[in-house]
Amino acid sequence: MDSASGQTPLIVSAPAKINLHLEILGIRSDSFHELAMIMQSVDVADTLFFENNSNGTILLKCNTSQLITDENNLIIQAADLLKFESGLCNLGAVIHLEKRIPIGAGLAGGSSNGAAALMGLNKLWNLGYTSTQLLNFAAKLGSDVPFTMKGGAQFCFGRGEILEPIKCIHSDEANLAILLIKSPKTSISTPWAFQQYKKIWESQYLKEEIDFSIRRQILRENNLIASISRNDSLPSIKNDLQKVVEEREESVRKGLYLLRSRGENLGIAMSGSGPSLFALFRTLDLAQVAQFKLAEILKGQDYESWCSSLLPYLTHLDEYSHNE
Ligand code: C5P
Repeated sequence: MDSASGQTPLIVSAPAKINLHLEILGIRSDSFHELAMIMQSVDVADTLFFENNSNGTILLKCNTSQLITDENNLIIQAADLLKFESGLCNLGAVIHLEKRIPIGAGLAGGSSNGAAALMGLNKLWNLGYTSTQLLNFAAKLGSDVPFTMKGGAQFCFGRGEILEPIKCIHSDEANLAILLIKSPKTSISTPWAFQQYKKIWESQYLKEEIDFSIRRQILRENNLIASISRNDSLPSIKNDLQKVVEEREESVRKGLYLLRSRGENLGIAMSGSGPSLFALFRTLDLAQVAQFKLAEILKGQDYESWCSSLLPYLTHLDEYSHNE
């Protein structure tokens, strides 16, 4: 990475997430969907490098030309939001993004970049915002941005921004990992997936807050992570959006079939609005064995694949925010 100023840049990692549960409960007065989710950080990450830019502009550079780097990018939106909130319009930065998370894949790569930009620029510009303030800014940028800022394993309610940490297991017996696959030719629009789901299922949406809160409580009591730590039989991984994406995308149907053919996993699902798919394993070794056994067929059918550990905790919000 070239440094414009010759100074050591500030570096922030931006990990991807998967959904271990995505349940659509109903529709809200703001037209977003009311959700009950389990989100989990995984060890596939972009890296952001930050330097001050004395001319007061925000310049975003990226290692791939596939990414939009204008004001539609959440990194630029995060920088503009901090300038607006602080009233310090002269602040500038050169931000270099090293992209590794697949784009448009349902892995919250864009959201995680936005979260990393809020944290990195808070530190670079000495703004002194607390973690609570940064999480509030994150919710303004997008529904998944607060989760990607906090990370680890969390229940995510509301439109996704209300977080409750899940106590994780991280022992020799259970060092969970995934095999992640994605067809590089497919990408899914999140608004399309939600709209399509609404078209088909709206008549069955829950309407009352009491019904939402019952569903949240059921998820808290019967979640995959708790079942694994208790060695109970596992609930299957639920992703409501999978129903509509699977129907449209052949690569998603075929990918799910391929992952199912390696039977020793703990569960299989699409992440977010797709099209990335994952199989969950008890260890990284088991995920790598499955990847090895499927290597030829994945390559033949043009899927990219990654093996990754789950990240039970992230500490970067504490690192880049001011003490409360
Ligand atoms: O919040 P974010 O910008 O990531 O959402 C993208 C789109 O996904 C929204 O415009 C909406 O169409 C859909 N969405 C939704 N309900 C949610 C989150 C997202 O309908 N809880």
